[in-house]
Amino acid sequence: MTMNDILTNKTFYTFTYGCQMNEHDSERIAGLLESCGCVPVSTLEESEIVIFMTCCVRERADIRLMGQVSTIKGVPLPEGSALDKRIVCIGGCIGQRDGIALTETLDNVDVVFGTQNIERLPYLITGVLSQGGHFVEIEQDSDSFSTDLPSDREKPWSAWLPITVGCDNFCTFCIVPYVRGRERSRAIEDVVMNAEAYVAEGVKEITLLGQNVNSYGRDLYGSPRFADVLKAVAATGVERLRFATSHPKDLTDEVIAAFGELDNLMPALHLPVQSGSDRILEDMNRTYDSAHYLGLVRKLRASCPDIALSTDVIVGFPGETEEDFQATYDLIESVGYSQVFTFIYSRREGTPAADMFDDTPRDVIQRRFDRLVELVQRKALEQNRRFLGRDLDVLFEGPSRRDPSMLVGHSPHNVTVHAPLPAGMDASAFVGRTCLVHIDEAKTWYLSGTLVER
Ligand code: SAM
Ligand code: SF4
Ligand code: F3S
Repeated sequence: MTMNDILTNKTFYTFTYGCQMNEHDSERIAGLLESCGCVPVSTLEESEIVIFMTCCVRERADIRLMGQVSTIKGVPLPEGSALDKRIVCIGGCIGQRDGIALTETLDNVDVVFGTQNIERLPYLITGVLSQGGHFVEIEQDSDSFSTDLPSDREKPWSAWLPITVGCDNFCTFCIVPYVRGRERSRAIEDVVMNAEAYVAEGVKEITLLGQNVNSYGRDLYGSPRFADVLKAVAATGVERLRFATSHPKDLTDEVIAAFGELDNLMPALHLPVQSGSDRILEDMNRTYDSAHYLGLVRKLRASCPDIALSTDVIVGFPGETEEDFQATYDLIESVGYSQVFTFIYSRREGTPAADMFDDTPRDVIQRRFDRLVELVQRKALEQNRRFLGRDLDVLFEGPSRRDPSMLVGHSPHNVTVHAPLPAGMDASAFVGRTCLVHIDEAKTWYLSGTLVER
């Protein structure tokens, strides 16, 4: 029997956690399994194969996985399945980190695959179905860039386009370089070919992906740098171009200028700062200080006055004092972010920060965190209010889950926008379409308005 004979009509369901890299990897897994005859389903109960795309950036994600994998033992297979048990596969960053040990701690796990072994998943599942036992494949440091896989996108009008994988920065708190490997850049010709193919099939929005897209090309011969990739992809004519994530130490003047020059580069940038304290930034090995960061913010606003900025912040890094925290608080207050992702420091075994002395009580960290969240919400509302009375282009995704009479989409600044569905019209007519919306209400996390054009 061939692999496709074995996999045809087997149903699969994927749980995806973590960052956009995992979201993109899940779309590639879906494309790959579908090309082998498997059928995607929308609930665990309907699935014969379940795949966990895991994240270990913080401890909570680890704990959740263990609980979830154990509880699915009690979920029966769908009616009519010829299998005697559901096939459980663990991929993503916990798969990469723990490998075969997962089959020892979780007795219902059949397949473990690493972050660089996605294309092997159909073979591993076939192995379990034909021979039984466990199949584990973890590649340590592949130098290939395997993105040439079919992909079943969750949003057909919007595509992730990885330009780098891995990370060489080794921020002292972060596990990512240990589970995603060294940074590798994809050839610019491949990136552009991929972008052109997306545009030809009607994709409206492309997001260039990498842990640090700004260091693109350091491992390639010749000169293409991130600004070149940005310009080349913008030249494909895609309606909306975005990128994530940027490390402040590598954001160049040329990339900053691109925000003022390229019409289809959206006025939104995620620029993780992590801390406002220079002492903590140094201990984090971020290699910039707050003055450098604030200088970038000034240049970005000079290049594109309307730009919406977002960031990541860690509270409670080892040794953080009240003064260090206050410096972070002040920086967040002064920049005026549209969104701040706030995290309590989570100790990750194997990272340098895990060995740093830390005696800050948990309740002190929690109080700092709560103060920061209150500030972040106040500033986000302030930022959203600047859109009141403006007409914004909104790329619609469909009806709101809570209220099907409302359409939901995103503005160029990546702010969620709600607008009432016009009477007598079907929401599906708006999916993947950009319409003008007059903004008449601003809330902390979204805007509401009325359609100007149909
Ligand atoms: N590559 C991106 C960058 O340079 O900022 C971010 C990638 S990381 C997956 C996303 C965010 O998780 C980080 O920006 C950081 O704020 C947070 N993070 C990473 N490790 C963490 C840890 N040990 N504890 C708490 N937050 C963490
Ligand atoms: Fe982690 Fe730092 Fe790399 Fe981002 S740049 S993935 S925070 S090590
Ligand atoms: Fe998590 Fe791995 Fe992304 S640890 S944040 S899924 S790179």
